[in-house]
Order: sequence, then C-alpha cells, then structure tokens
Amino acid sequence: MKRILIIGSTGQIGSELSWKLRSIYGESNVICGYFAPPFPEGFFEAGQTVKIDATDINQVADAVKKYQIDTIYNLAAILSATAEKNPQLGWDVGIGSLMNCLDVAREYHCAVFTPSSIGAFGSNTPHKNTPQDTIQRPNTVYGITKVAGELISDYYYERWGVDTRSVRYPGLISNLTLPGGGTTDYAVEIFYKAVKNEKFVCPLRAGTFMDMMYMPDALDAAIQIMEADPAKLKHRNSFNITAMSFDPERLYAEIKRHIPGFVMEYDIDPLKQAIADSWPDNMDDSCARIEWGWNPKYNLEAMTKDMIAILKKKMAVGNECYF
Ligand code: NAD
Ligand code: SER
Repeated sequence: MKRILIIGSTGQIGSELSWKLRSIYGESNVICGYFAPPFPEGFFEAGQTVKIDATDINQVADAVKKYQIDTIYNLAAILSATAEKNPQLGWDVGIGSLMNCLDVAREYHCAVFTPSSIGAFGSNTPHKNTPQDTIQRPNTVYGITKVAGELISDYYYERWGVDTRSVRYPGLISNLTLPGGGTTDYAVEIFYKAVKNEKFVCPLRAGTFMDMMYMPDALDAAIQIMEADPAKLKHRNSFNITAMSFDPERLYAEIKRHIPGFVMEYDIDPLKQAIADSWPDNMDDSCARIEWGWNPKYNLEAMTKDMIAILKKKMAVGNECYF
C-alpha cells in the first residue's frame, strides 16, 4: 500500500484529490500537507494533516521521514495570472517546492507527481492539435516554471532513477474549491453566476479556445499515471491530456440550454487574454491514451449538466462558496 504525502492539499485539485486518494489507499496512508488558509470545510477532521512550506526542504524531508512516505503529490504552485503579478513568488513556489520534493524523493526513494499545464506552451507552439513533443517557449513565469519543472523532473529520473511522472492539465472545472488565480478560472466562475441567476462578465474574448477538463477526470489522471506500468511509459514529464476544448461562447450556449435566462457580457482582461492567446486551442493527447490508457469520461455536455446540478444542490442548502 502506498504512503502518500500531498503538498498543497487545500487547493482546487488537492481538496478533492485528498478524498479520492484516501478512499483508494486508506485514510491512514494519506497525509495532507497544508500551507495557508482558506482550508476546505472539515479539512482537519478528515484525516492526518501536516503544515508544510514546501520551499523549505527541511519541512518536506521531516514529513517524508515522520510518515514514511513513498509517494509525493506536489501541488504547490502560484497559478498563471497571479504569478504574472508576482513573478518571483511564482518562481520560488513553482520551482523551489519542486526541487525540494525531488531532492527529498531522491534521498528517501519516493515517487513524485507534479502537474504541468497547458501553460507550458507558448505563442510559437502549434495551437491546433498541439503535439506531445513540440516547441515549448512560454512567455509567462508560470509557463517557464512548468517547462523547467518538466525538464528537471525528467533529469532526476534519468540521472538518479527518481520515479517522476506528470500530466499537462488543461483548465480544470470543479465545484468544491475555487480556482487559485488562473487564466482558465472563468470556466468555473461562469457556473456560479449562472446558478445564482446573475450576469457573468467574461474576461476572455469570444473565439478564445482552450483545453478544459472536469475535476473527476483530473483526479483519475493523477492516480492512473502514478499507477501506470513504468515499462509502458515512453514519456514521463509530462503528458498532454485533455477532455474538451471550448471558447466562452460555446460554454455560454451550453449553460443556456439549462438556464435559458442566463446573460453573459464581455469585459476583456488584457493580461488573461494575452496568456490565453499564447496557449493551445486543443492538445493531442494520444500518447497518454496509448502509454497509460487515458480516457476521460466527461465532455462539455456531461460536465455542464453535472456542474449545474451540484451547484444548485449546494445553493439549496445555503452553502456560501461563491465568486
Ligand atoms: P491552487 O492554487 O488551488 O492550490 C495550490 C496550493 O499550493 C494551495 O493549497 C496553496 O496553499 C499551496 N501552496 C502555496 N504555496 C505553498 C508553499 N510554499 N508550500 C506548500 N504549499 C503551498 O492550485 P491547483 O489548481 O490545485 O493546482 C495544483 C497544481 O496543478 C499546480 O501545479 C498547478 O499549476 C497545476 N494545474 C492546475 C490547473 C487548474 O486548472 N487548476 C491546470 C493546470 C495545472
Ligand atoms: N488553470 C491554470 C491557469 O489558468 C492552467 O494551468 O493558470
């Protein structure tokens, strides 16, 4: 049975991955590292927790030793739009945490999962059907940390045999914890406005296509890649994965099928628009499908239906977790 440490377990992914990992590997085998509020409801009661600033290698090493960890899910990062406002912090958290995880993993023989992103691509990457192996010259600090992270993770695998694996997540849509300041956040925020019958002001232009994924598929990807047969992996850091690609108009139209009175207007955020324009429209994820069986369950229609149903249920019980 794995002994898992999740670093950054209170964020958009971690708050749901922690439940899923506990359900698979057992409550006592999953240790949730936290850094700063907000904390998900019931976080401290749900299982074992440990405070970790991942930019401090001693804190990572102490937790790995104390809990006899063999697998680290490293989710600490500053997302794209926020990192552009504080590039030094984006670099320190993105790369500092990763280097610490890799060094500790090397010493204590842990496997390491660190998500990369569609942000690892840039303006001169082919935007349509973006290949697995292609030009990666991002012009955001977030993207630079992702490319550097992919390369150094492969380096630790090739040089020292550290079992590093990763996926390039697209924008993630979820309904438990709000996203942490990314360019794709609009695709979550729009649902909260729709179920409240409020107008949504979209920060990206119509026609801005990006890859997206519903959280249940993102969690499956994180678990499946870490369980994959290593003999079948030709790539490691990092695999393109996607589930759907849409622009704001397509998403708006799909939500309106469920909430006909919903209204969306545009007020373009130049920073987010520039970032989104530099990212792929849709990635080719065939290597993930071939090498470890990637096969998402949710398309735009299924995700939209589920998001609206869950958020309506939350509203009905007066749960206040809104933009
Ligand atoms: P998030 O912003 O919601 O959560 C990040 C977590 O990192 C938070 O719990 C925060 O407290 C923690 N953290 C920040 N500084 C830390 C530090 N010094 N030490 C320890 N923890 C620290 O991010 P997320 O959306 O959950 O993303 C997790 C990973 O997935 C990141 O690497 C991100 O780049 C990647 N990713 C996310 C998306 C997405 O749409 N959410 C898409 C692509 C890739
Ligand atoms: N959702 C993330 C962001 O927009 C993509 O990595 O920053």
